[in-house]
Amino acid sequence: PVRLLVDNDTGIDDALALVYLLSLSHVDVEVLTSTPGNVAVEQVARNNLALLELCGRTGVEVAVGATAPLEIPLTTTPETHGPQGIGYAELPAPEGAVSPHHAVDLWVEAARQHPGELTALLTAPLTNFALALRKEPRLPKLLKRVVIMGGSYYYQGNTTPTAEWNTHVDPHAAAEVFAAFEGEPEDRLPIVCALEMTERIELRPEHVAELGRLAGSAEAELVLPEDPEGRRSTAANPLLRCLSDALRFYFEFHRHYDQGYLAHVHDVFAAAIAAGAVDYRTRPATVHVETGSGLLVGTTVADYRGLWGRKPNARIVSWNDPEATFREVLGSIGALARR
Ligand code: BDR
Ligand code: CA
Repeated sequence: PVRLLVDNDTGIDDALALVYLLSLSHVDVEVLTSTPGNVAVEQVARNNLALLELCGRTGVEVAVGATAPLEIPLTTTPETHGPQGIGYAELPAPEGAVSPHHAVDLWVEAARQHPGELTALLTAPLTNFALALRKEPRLPKLLKRVVIMGGSYYYQGNTTPTAEWNTHVDPHAAAEVFAAFEGEPEDRLPIVCALEMTERIELRPEHVAELGRLAGSAEAELVLPEDPEGRRSTAANPLLRCLSDALRFYFEFHRHYDQGYLAHVHDVFAAAIAAGAVDYRTRPATVHVETGSGLLVGTTVADYRGLWGRKPNARIVSWNDPEATFREVLGSIGALARR
């Protein structure tokens, strides 16, 4: 099995990624921790608990991490993910409670207890991971693999013209994380899924219709058009209803920025890599994160050629297969919804 530590900021694409991971029989999400980002950290944890319950999974420890980025105030993005982080979906208040332990302690303890066995998946600002690395500098050696969604190496940001959201929210944390991996052997370097790859994971209404077919739900119940009246999904299945209402919000957000009626489901791609379920290629590079104030804060720069005379600290994904990723993800979520 793939044993996972997941840190996220749920978030519509984080939610889809989590549901996908929970649908996989060969994956165990062992610890699920929250970083503030898309929404405040308590809301992230509530969303994670509610999604676990919606998927019938209650045995996963859910913990809260840092409440703000390392050095700068928190910014959230209700315009991207809705006021609660899951678009128009209304999740019932979770019955379960968050763990009394701090996210960072859980990560460090799990990694120490199971050296070489755990894969880390980070689909949020890297605040908790940076704090965990401060507490346990051997984490790069203790973790089996690290997969990160963040950054942009073709210098088109989604938050500023050059910066990607997760890195922009906490650039100091991202800088610390990459510094901690510098000089590790290549197979230990974090696999980085940046915008130039994740924006190819373009979810379109046809994909949602396909999910409906796979899960036995009618297209009209799932594929909601842009709707000023706020029509909600009528699907009988609560998981499909949640995804449909979440995705309509995400589609409308992308349309607002003239990208068409589609959604970049960044975190889903990182999750599929962490699950070992899709093909991809990477290139080793030395990543620098700009932390100074001003125009370029949060921008990630990659040196692929050793021009800085430094060792690589990341493996940046350089090729992916969007349609194969969707076949994998939708097939698996469809099967979960049918169960
Ligand atoms: C990242 O930012 C967040 O809004 C998404 O959940 C994703 O992790 C994309 O830039
Ligand atoms: Ca996210």
